[in-house]
Parts: sequence; C-alpha cells; structure tokens
Amino acid sequence: MLRIGVLVSGGGTNLQAIIERIEDGYLKDCSIVTVVSSRPGVYALERAGKHGIPCEVISRKSYSSLDDYDKALIEHFTKYNAGLIVMAGFLSMVGTLFVNTFKNRIINIHPSLIPSFCGKGYYGIIPHQKALEYGVKVTGATVHFVNEEYDSGPIILQKAVQVRDDDTPETLQRRVMEEAEWLILPEAIKLFSEGRLVIEGRKVKIKESGIND
Ligand code: GRF
Repeated sequence: MLRIGVLVSGGGTNLQAIIERIEDGYLKDCSIVTVVSSRPGVYALERAGKHGIPCEVISRKSYSSLDDYDKALIEHFTKYNAGLIVMAGFLSMVGTLFVNTFKNRIINIHPSLIPSFCGKGYYGIIPHQKALEYGVKVTGATVHFVNEEYDSGPIILQKAVQVRDDDTPETLQRRVMEEAEWLILPEAIKLFSEGRLVIEGRKVKIKESGIND
C-alpha cells in the first residue's frame, strides 16, 4: 500500500482528483493518509474532511525559519509514514532539509509546460496570465519531482492544452485543470506506485512494467 501525504493551499481540485481516482480503482493500493494545508479554512480541507482523511494546518509563518518549517513537515510525514508526498496546489516553499529527507518521493503539479512560465512567483492564475500575454498557442501542465529549486525537478509527465483566441486567464486555468492537471497528477501517482519511474540525471524514464508485474 502506497501511503500518500498531500500538501495543499487552496481549493483542492487536484486533491479531489486523487481522491476520486482512488475511489474508482484507477489508483490501486494507494491511500491518502494525511492532508496538510499551509493555510487554515481552505476548501481543500473540507474536501479531505468529507472523505475522512486526517487534516492538519502547518503554516510557514508559525515557524521562525525555513529549517524549523521543514522539520515540522518532516516530523508530520514521518509520523504518518508517507511513501509519497504530493504538492497539489501547494503555495509555500520548502527547504533542502525537507526535499533531501524525502528525496525523489515528492512530486508537484505545475500549471504550465515547464520550463515555460514557471519559477518563483509563477503560481495559481499567474502562469495563465503570462501565457496569454506572451501569445502562446499551446500551454498545459507538468508533474515533476521536487528538488531544491522552484519547479525545476525532473519532469515525470506533461500534457498540452490548446489556447483559444477568446480565452481569459480564468477560462484557460479551468481548461488546463480539467484537461491536464486532473489527469496527469493521478497518472504520475499511479506510475510511482507501480515502481515504473526511473530517474536518470534530469530525465525520468517510464518502465513498461513495475513492481507488481
Ligand atoms: C492549480 O492551477 C494548480 O495547478 C496550482 O494551483 C491551482 C489550484 O489547485 N498549483 P487546487 O485546485 O488547489 O488543486
């Protein structure tokens, strides 16, 4: 059984996608054992509560240093024996202590085709605003392993989404979530749970078969 910890900060639609894929059997032998929000009162916590998933708020501003924040997160996910940590709309930065403790066991969903429209300050609606300002014809979403830099770890999956002439940042964000994020995040978790992801330097290779075959 893959024990999954999910980090959230907002609406939790990506968390919802994972919950639903577990419930419909697409994600076998996976269980979300804890949801941690960087902020209180976000809808992601309500989503978790409706499915009986233990929740916690661990907020960066409650800790005097990034190291102390990392230690609180490490203690929490170690207590829950998380085998994979998923950043699903998570807006706080974590430090090298946390990343190295769970090396190659933290993944993030980013709402653009990395390396475009990513890095510090590119979160939520902003990547979509920048994509429209630039005039790209295609954008999308990326799932990647988390390393010490923003949005720069080895890429696991990407999915492209056409930009429409009449798109606003809001309509584009919604379509990227519906047509890309909510599909590739569960798929990446499935591949991880089956032991089919092999990291070779910057590249992630997907093996045809995994630990269950
Ligand atoms: C999504 O666009 C996600 O890609 C980004 O934050 C937005 C909200 O995610 N990281 P969620 O609805 O909280 O999962």
